[in-house]
Amino acid sequence: MIDARINAMINFVPAGSRVADIGADHGYLSIELIKSCRADFVIATDKNPNPLDAAKKNISAAGLDNFIETRLGDGLQVLNVGEVDTICVGGMGGALICKILDDSPQILNDVENLILQPMNAVDKLKNYLTDKNFYIADIDLAEAGGIIYEIIFASRSADKISARKKFDASPLREKYLALKVEKLQRILDEMSKSPAATSSEKFLEISSKVKGLSDQWSVVRNFLH
Ligand SMILES: C[S@@+](CC[C@H](N)C(=O)[O-])C[C@H]1O[C@@H](n2cnc3c(N)ncnc32)[C@H](O)[C@@H]1O
Repeated sequence: MIDARINAMINFVPAGSRVADIGADHGYLSIELIKSCRADFVIATDKNPNPLDAAKKNISAAGLDNFIETRLGDGLQVLNVGEVDTICVGGMGGALICKILDDSPQILNDVENLILQPMNAVDKLKNYLTDKNFYIADIDLAEAGGIIYEIIFASRSADKISARKKFDASPLREKYLALKVEKLQRILDEMSKSPAATSSEKFLEISSKVKGLSDQWSVVRNFLH
């Protein structure tokens, strides 16, 4: 099923891309990328045989065997340099996405666009991308199953930067920022019970994050109400 999360990923893929869908599972993203003409060709991969078999069945049922190739294996290791220009990874933890990208530097250096939907550790992933000379061109928000997810569009070329147009226009932005502040504030409240934790670097780091997010949130709130 194409939920808002997968839909947001699809919308970031430049038309006519050659895409690798890493951890394709059911293959819905791969299938929709071809149907919507966002991709000319997709390599749908998975580390585990059962999900890959499910993807193969769905791809055949959609009549798209000529457009989507399936490969079994870990991360980007099943790709060859030059095969794709865009990599999509969704539904995995941010640390795992960093590891998948970092394990295959030659492939990572060769691609133009990354469309990533981490389940957690979003800031870690963003820092990793910046370290690897990707521009965070835009971020979208999508709600699925009662959770709001960030979808990151990172590109090698600065001219793809759309100045966070999707993020700024998202109707979910206020709710997302409020939830993030609330979650971090809960951690700070817990840490405040221990003098050692209160004087730690972690406490300062989270406090400064809360301040930054609260400022963004009040700007959005004042603008909207
Ligand atoms: C939660 S599903 C996400 C499916 C789909 N990408 C989505 O966003 O809905 C994660 C999939 O990634 C696969 N996976 C986990 N680690 C992987 C890795 N290192 N390389 C390739 N696939 C992996 C799992 O087998 C599983 O099918």
